[in-house]
Amino acid sequence: MVTGAAGFIGGHLTARLLAEGADVCGLDRRHPASDLVARRNLAEGCGQSRFSFHHVDLLTPGWEPVLNGADVVFHLAAVPGVRPSWGAAFDEYASCNVIATQRVMNAAIHARVPRVVVASSSSVYGRTDGRPSTENAATRPLSPYGVTKLATEALALAHAGRADSPTTVAALRYFTVYGPGQRPDMLIGRVLSAALEGTPLTVYGSGEQRRDFTYIDDVVDATLAAGRSHASGAFNVGAGAATSVSEVLRVAEQLTGRPVPTRPAPAADGDAPGTLADSTLARDVFGWRARVDLQAGMRRHLKWHCSRHATRCASTA
Ligand code: UGA
Repeated sequence: MVTGAAGFIGGHLTARLLAEGADVCGLDRRHPASDLVARRNLAEGCGQSRFSFHHVDLLTPGWEPVLNGADVVFHLAAVPGVRPSWGAAFDEYASCNVIATQRVMNAAIHARVPRVVVASSSSVYGRTDGRPSTENAATRPLSPYGVTKLATEALALAHAGRADSPTTVAALRYFTVYGPGQRPDMLIGRVLSAALEGTPLTVYGSGEQRRDFTYIDDVVDATLAAGRSHASGAFNVGAGAATSVSEVLRVAEQLTGRPVPTRPAPAADGDAPGTLADSTLARDVFGWRARVDLQAGMRRHLKWHCSRHATRCASTA
């Protein structure tokens, strides 16, 4: 079962599970019939006989019986994004990331689901000293979003620790995931659009902030490997290289052969100066390691972009 199946990571995970022969039950509050992004993300799933879609809001009771018989619940449904989490939207973050997780975990334990994999985030760490973060590093989120993700994983792991819990939990700390279908508010898709369309990219702060950008196929591999394991805990899922926003612009310029116009903006509250994963634990426990570096991943992301906007891309590499 995949919650948030119509999202960026959920759609990729659903497609891969189906390709590997699994029966997949996808839950989302966005319906592919009425939501273009959901339809695109679920394009490979919809119509397959081994896929069933359930249009549910996890906060509205009644959906819980769909968990019966699930081997693994991949709980990816959430309100994502660091920058909008200040202000009025926070109520949505709190209810969708924390209260919905409580509902999913109660339902999973009640249905005696053996394994739950929960989406967490690099944003649980906050400000670091620049060295790779291991899972036992301090967690001091800089944004309300990061606080809700830290609560998500702590809550899920607390359920796994209940006496006689039938459910083990892996909380995966994904590091800035990119690739085909990436959410439109995120950097890499925006940089590629800016290069191809000539519309300025807003650069927050100095542009020297660094991210451990992680390609979607690696993230799906890690998520599936975590689903097959029974180890409980938090695990980093990051490519293991930190790249600045300015360096991403240069890679995009090189791949597209076009300049990326920019427009400066003040640093965004809650934006971590840098993230970098030490994913040794995921390697040792799940046998996972990232395979796609930023150049190769951005090339694939660009190819997908061009397949949707053929004319703008006619002259790119
Ligand atoms: C991303 C996701 O939005 C979160 O949902 C996720 O939890 C998090 O990764 C994670 O690591 O798990 P973020 O690192 O902010 O958060 O990813 P991007 O939106 O791709 O931003 C990367 C950097 O580019 C940030 O420093 C941001 O300020 C900068 N940026 C982004 C810009 O300068 N301009 C933009 O238009 C977008």
